[in-house]
Amino acid sequence: MNKEIKVGVLGAGSMGSGIAQIAATQEHQVVLVDLNDDALAKAEASLKKILARLVEKEKINEATSKSIIGRIKFSNNVNDFNDCGIVIEAIIEKLEVKQQVFTQLEKIVNDDCILASNTSSLSIASIASACEKSDRVIGIHFFNPAPLMPLVEIIPAVQTTEETKNTARALIDSWKKVTVLTKDTPGFIVNRVARPFYGEALKIYEEGIADFATIDWAMKELGGFRMGPFTLMDYIGNDVNYTVTETVFGAFYYDPRYRPSFTQKRHKEAGWFGRKNGRGFFDYSEGAEKPEPNKDEQLGAEIVNRIVVMLINEAADALFLNIATREDIDLAMTKGVNYPCGLLEWADEIGLEEVLLRLEFLHAEFGDDRYRPSVLLRRLVRDNKTFY
Ligand SMILES: NC(=O)c1ccc[n+]([C@@H]2O[C@H](COP(=O)([O-])OP(=O)(O)OC[C@H]3O[C@@H](n4cnc5c(N)ncnc54)[C@H](O)[C@@H]3O)[C@@H](O)[C@H]2O)c1
Repeated sequence: MNKEIKVGVLGAGSMGSGIAQIAATQEHQVVLVDLNDDALAKAEASLKKILARLVEKEKINEATSKSIIGRIKFSNNVNDFNDCGIVIEAIIEKLEVKQQVFTQLEKIVNDDCILASNTSSLSIASIASACEKSDRVIGIHFFNPAPLMPLVEIIPAVQTTEETKNTARALIDSWKKVTVLTKDTPGFIVNRVARPFYGEALKIYEEGIADFATIDWAMKELGGFRMGPFTLMDYIGNDVNYTVTETVFGAFYYDPRYRPSFTQKRHKEAGWFGRKNGRGFFDYSEGAEKPEPNKDEQLGAEIVNRIVVMLINEAADALFLNIATREDIDLAMTKGVNYPCGLLEWADEIGLEEVLLRLEFLHAEFGDDRYRPSVLLRRLVRDNKTFY
């Protein structure tokens, strides 16, 4: 039944073409629209290359590869969305542009077509407000690369109906993705809760406690994270990561917990974006020497403890403010950014009293509101309870 829904994707960039690939693999007819013909040609070529690699690795056969690409119509005409059951927008991250596009889309599609946005940082309510029938607008946030990352955040706006929410979620579940439900607040779950992974690592560096390589070594080898924060920022791009941090900071009315770092700002200003241009926190040019970390276990543990309690505090606060359920908060961080363990589960393991103690120490030491412990954490400790 589900497969009969024709899926429209607007924007054939890295996210849009990934989403089109998923939907076509799940046997939907797909229309992938981009106004830029070069982007369309690039998306088609790159998709063919990805499918050829999957055939080579014997993940799919030649016939399946052909039928996947055959189900995607590459088009530069938004009118081709006219018979879609859902259109997922993945264009440039600018509110005015997205609003214009949603107003235009509404005139093309049927009344029961769901209009979704893959935005990372804009409010779904503000995008929905561009539509007359705003109750069919929802956020469906994939992670990069979309075909490989299992998590999808489902974000109903205040205007969204239960029916839109349930239909959208059921559809993405049927694509074998892990969906979590989140409130329409800055950063949703992942991009909010993960802020200290970058911010606290940068602060530890700025205080002269350790260098990039040592912080990365500690988080990877002792903390069990897939990548150290500086390697990850270089991978995401310091331009992109810094902008997200700045956006989230503003969106939270300048709460010091989300304060951006001058170190990253200067790297961005210098054009040291990371892997994509050969230089970020680390040097990726040919023959460049990799800096050696200081493998002092005590120092490493101090670094991991500080970043992890800040992450836990953020997760606790998200739960306190009903951004999502405790299960979805933990799932989001393990499936969206590969954390070794859910943060609330991790907090129970460390012991909430210990987590609170470490935060209170930082709060007293710095006198900075950035370190204020979440009210929920205090209450659980007071009542001798745990998250699970
Ligand atoms: N890149 C990521 O890691 C990531 C992750 C999750 C969500 N997102 C979000 O997904 C969206 C797309 O990001 P991306 O990285 O794929 O961008 P991108 O720059 O790779 O692709 C955007 C595409 O949209 C096209 N486009 C721009 N305006 C258009 C319009 N009016 N009509 C039709 N096509 C138009 C461009 O030609 C381009 O091909 C953004 O909202 C972004 O915040 C990105």
